[in-house]
Amino acid sequence: MHRSSVDDVITQLLCISFVCISGQCCFFTCRLYEYHFIEENKSWYEAQRYCREKYTDLAKVFDMTDMSRLRNSAQNQGEAWIGLNNTGGNRMWHWSLNHITVISEKSFRRQIIEGCYRVFSVGFTGMKKDKKTLHLIETFMNWTQAQSYCRYNHTDLASGPDQVDGEEMKTLFNGRPMSVWMGLFRDSWRWSDGSDFSFRYWDMQLFNDEQNTKTCAMTLLNRSGKWSSDECDKKKHFFCYDDKLILIKENKTWKDALNYCENNYKGLVSITNPEVQGWVQEKAKGADSPYVWIGLSYKCTLGLWLWVSDYVVCYDKWATEGKTEGCDMSVGVDRGGQHEWFSRRNNETYNFICSKW
Ligand SMILES: *[C@@H]1O[C@H](CO)[C@@H](O)[C@H](O)[C@H]1NC(C)=O
Ligand SMILES: *[C@@H]1O[C@H](CO)[C@@H](O)[C@H](O)[C@H]1NC(C)=O
Ligand SMILES: *[C@@H]1O[C@H](CO)[C@@H](O)[C@H](O)[C@H]1NC(C)=O
Ligand SMILES: *[C@@H]1O[C@H](CO)[C@@H](O)[C@H](O)[C@H]1NC(C)=O
Ligand SMILES: *[C@@H]1O[C@H](CO)[C@@H](O)[C@H](O)[C@H]1NC(C)=O
Ligand SMILES: *[C@@H]1O[C@H](CO)[C@@H](O)[C@H](O)[C@H]1NC(C)=O
Ligand SMILES: *[C@@H]1O[C@H](CO)[C@@H](O)[C@H](O)[C@H]1NC(C)=O
Repeated sequence: MHRSSVDDVITQLLCISFVCISGQCCFFTCRLYEYHFIEENKSWYEAQRYCREKYTDLAKVFDMTDMSRLRNSAQNQGEAWIGLNNTGGNRMWHWSLNHITVISEKSFRRQIIEGCYRVFSVGFTGMKKDKKTLHLIETFMNWTQAQSYCRYNHTDLASGPDQVDGEEMKTLFNGRPMSVWMGLFRDSWRWSDGSDFSFRYWDMQLFNDEQNTKTCAMTLLNRSGKWSSDECDKKKHFFCYDDKLILIKENKTWKDALNYCENNYKGLVSITNPEVQGWVQEKAKGADSPYVWIGLSYKCTLGLWLWVSDYVVCYDKWATEGKTEGCDMSVGVDRGGQHEWFSRRNNETYNFICSKW
C-alpha cells in the first residue's frame, strides 16, 4: 500500500516532467503522417500507384495546418495532384469542421433543410477560435463566402449536432425567427485512402464542380495552394503522404517484433496520448491476430511498465482486469471491441505495429 502510493507519486512526477518537455506534442498539432512532393510527371492513377508502392497513398488533407505542411514540403510553384477524386454519383453530407464524424442523412434531415439549403439566409453562425462559443454574424453572404469568413476570422461554420442543435444556438436566436448558414455541405469527392476527412479548399474562381470530365483534384501552389480539378490522365507532379505507423501482419513474439521494428523502422509504437491510441486502433482493425503488440512491457528490475522509448506510462487504456504484472508480460491491443490494452505473455505471437520515425 505504502510502496505503491510512493510509486504513484513518482510516476506522476515523471509524467509531469514528460508533459512539460514534450507537451506541445501532440494532441492537436502534431500529425502522424508526413508529405512527400514528387517532381515527376504522372497521371492521377499512375501517381496513386507510385504513392501506394513507395509511401502510403496520395496526399490527404485534414485541415489548414495540413495544408501549410503540404505547401511547405514543395519548392515548386505549379500544379500537383492530391489524393481526392470525384466518384461520380452518391453525394455525401459532411460537416465543414473536421473532428466530427460524417453524419447520416436521415437523422439530420432537419438541419439539412434549415442549414445549407435554405435560400433565404440572413446570416450565419461561426465558431470562435478561443472559446468554443458560437457567434452570430448578421451579414448577407452566400455559403462559400460565409465559410471563408468563419475560417479566417473564427474557426469554422457551426458544425455538428451539439453546436447546431445545442442550447447556445437557441440562446443566440432568442426566439427570433431567422435562418442561418450551418457548416453542412454535400459533395461526391472522396479521398484515395478512404478517409472521410471533410476539409475542402477549392479555389472558387477556377473550380467548377459541374465539369464532369475534370474528376481529379490538384493543388495550385501559386494560388496559396487552393484546389481545382483536371482530367485525371493529365501528367502532373504530385504529393504522397506517409503514415508514421505501420501494421506488420506477421505473427511474432514480443521480442522478435521489437527487433523487427528496430531493424526495419524506428521501433515498436509507444502510445503516449489519445491521438496515437486512435491511430493504433485504426491499424489494429486490419490485424489477423486477436491482439497487436505495442512497445510496452513490464520491467521486473524496476517493477513498473515502461515504453520501449523509456517513457513511463502517462496515458493508458487498460481493459478492466486486463493488467497483470509479471516478468514475462508485454501489452497487446485488442483487435476488436474497444481496442483496449491487455497484458499478454511475451512468448505468444501476434501482429504488431512499428513506428517509422
Ligand atoms: C514535366 O512536365 C513539364 C511540362 O509539362 C516539363 O516542363 C518538365 O520538365 C517535366 N518534368 C519532368 C521531371 O519530366
Ligand atoms: C500558376 O501556374 C499555372 C501552371 O502551373 C499557370 O498556368 C498560371 O498562370 C500560374 N498563375 C499565376 C498567378 O502565376
Ligand atoms: C476515383 O478513384 C478510385 C480509386 O481510388 C476509382 O476507383 C474511381 O473509379 C475514381 N473515380 C473516378 C470518377 O474516376
Ligand atoms: C458567392 O459569392 C461570391 C462573391 O460574391 C461569388 O464569387 C461566388 O460565385 C458565389 N458563390 C455561389 C455558389 O453563388
Ligand atoms: C474577417 O472579418 C472582417 C471584419 O468583419 C472582414 O472585413 C473580413 O472580410 C473577414 N475576412 C474574411 C476572409 O472573410
Ligand atoms: C496469425 O495468427 C492468427 C491466430 O492467432 C492466425 O489466424 C493468422 O492467420 C496468423 N497470421 C499469419 C500471417 O500467420
Ligand atoms: C509461454 O511460456 C509459458 C511459461 O514459460 C508456457 O507455459 C507457455 O506454454 C508458453 N507459451 C507458448 C505459446 O510458447
